[in-house]
Amino acid sequence: MTKLFKIRRLLSSVLHKYNYSTAAKSMPTVKINSTEFISDDYTNVTPKIISYLGRNLHLQNDNPLSIVRQRIVQYFYKSFTHRGKPTFSVYDNLSPIVSTKQNFDDLLIPVDHPSRAKSDCYYINKDMLLRAHMTAHQSELLRSGLNNFLMIGDVYRRDEIDSTHFPVFHQLDVVRSQRKEQLFPNHPDLDIFEPTFDKERPHLFTNTITDPTKQSCHTLEATKLMEAQLKNHLIGLVQVLFGDDIKYRWVDAYFPFTHPSWELEIYYENNWLEVLGCGIVRNEILANAGPNNTIAYAFGLGLERLAMALYKIPDIRLMWSQDSGFLTQFQNKELNAKITYKPVSVYPQCTNDISFWLPENITIDTFMSNDFYDLVRDIGGDIIEQVKLKDKFIHPKTKKHSLCFSIVYRHLERTLTQAEVNKIHKDIENAIVSAFNVVIR
Ligand code: DAH
Repeated sequence: MTKLFKIRRLLSSVLHKYNYSTAAKSMPTVKINSTEFISDDYTNVTPKIISYLGRNLHLQNDNPLSIVRQRIVQYFYKSFTHRGKPTFSVYDNLSPIVSTKQNFDDLLIPVDHPSRAKSDCYYINKDMLLRAHMTAHQSELLRSGLNNFLMIGDVYRRDEIDSTHFPVFHQLDVVRSQRKEQLFPNHPDLDIFEPTFDKERPHLFTNTITDPTKQSCHTLEATKLMEAQLKNHLIGLVQVLFGDDIKYRWVDAYFPFTHPSWELEIYYENNWLEVLGCGIVRNEILANAGPNNTIAYAFGLGLERLAMALYKIPDIRLMWSQDSGFLTQFQNKELNAKITYKPVSVYPQCTNDISFWLPENITIDTFMSNDFYDLVRDIGGDIIEQVKLKDKFIHPKTKKHSLCFSIVYRHLERTLTQAEVNKIHKDIENAIVSAFNVVIR
């Protein structure tokens, strides 16, 4: 889980006019799967990003993401069956094109929340975007009458470039809701809601989250029981995936759509690795979507992170590989087989630096590096392994600001020649000159 839906990220508030956006500049519409969308000054989705739609890696049988998906779904089916029938519905083919209402408003994400920033999301226009998390579908599925469901799919976020970040990744989100009789089958005296809360008229009650232990509309008993079930359920899941000896810990967290909220971390290769976010769904979300007599828990996890840890896959770009040397390692395997990825062979990296002076109205702190990363990825494609900031410099006399980035190139399936890297690097230089009005040093 990256930090997007946590409140902490500090964003530069200065929006500058060199925002990189091929689509907005050259055409009034964006075409995605034969549907045309009117573009506007929010449009920042690039042709490269659009090309990932429909790949559905999580549904390709020999892809590690699909194996992890099936193992988690299987765990759910085993944990929750009623008279031999699963009590969960699974949605793994929902369109990634969503409205800002679905991705943010329905989930109580404030209008000024950093996760809405253009620098973090791929907007089609001011009303539509490529979903930034699977939670975007939570309200519509609740509204359609579902209580227990799983949503799996590709999500899109603008971010830095390195071996664990890719602008498209996959998430699995879950909602489990229960009525009073289901939660407390043997205690008809216990309730989900405080007596002051009238569930027929929820809008008359201001539900607060100032108490760290619970939402003000919920009873402590209901919250604590849901918390225990949620945590047991998730620990069971990581034990099924990683084995009973896996070391884990819970960390208090904040998400606009749950309260209380937690993150689960597992101890993996000498580090604590955050694998999921979860919590008790804010009652406003349930009340707006329909069900007025339930309490629900929800969680969301990233499939790439789990797959990389489980199968020791060192680079997130490998998930997209169509090379048989990669895919055959995951083909026709027992779902729970222990697989350790063996590098087919490692091709050398090529690193070229790029330094430039910023135009006068932009400083080293207001430069939109995510715009830069997108442009690098647009031109270099998947051979871009990493882009790292190497140096910031302010000229003592002219006061001009300058940045230097190292771009690491590596093809996953063959050796790149210095000449072909130099050509791509030159193309990147030319593109940033025209997109950001910088001067190459
Ligand atoms: N949507 C969150 C993210 O992408 C993860 C998450 C947290 C999902 C809590 C949930 C939840 O359903 O309850 O960072």
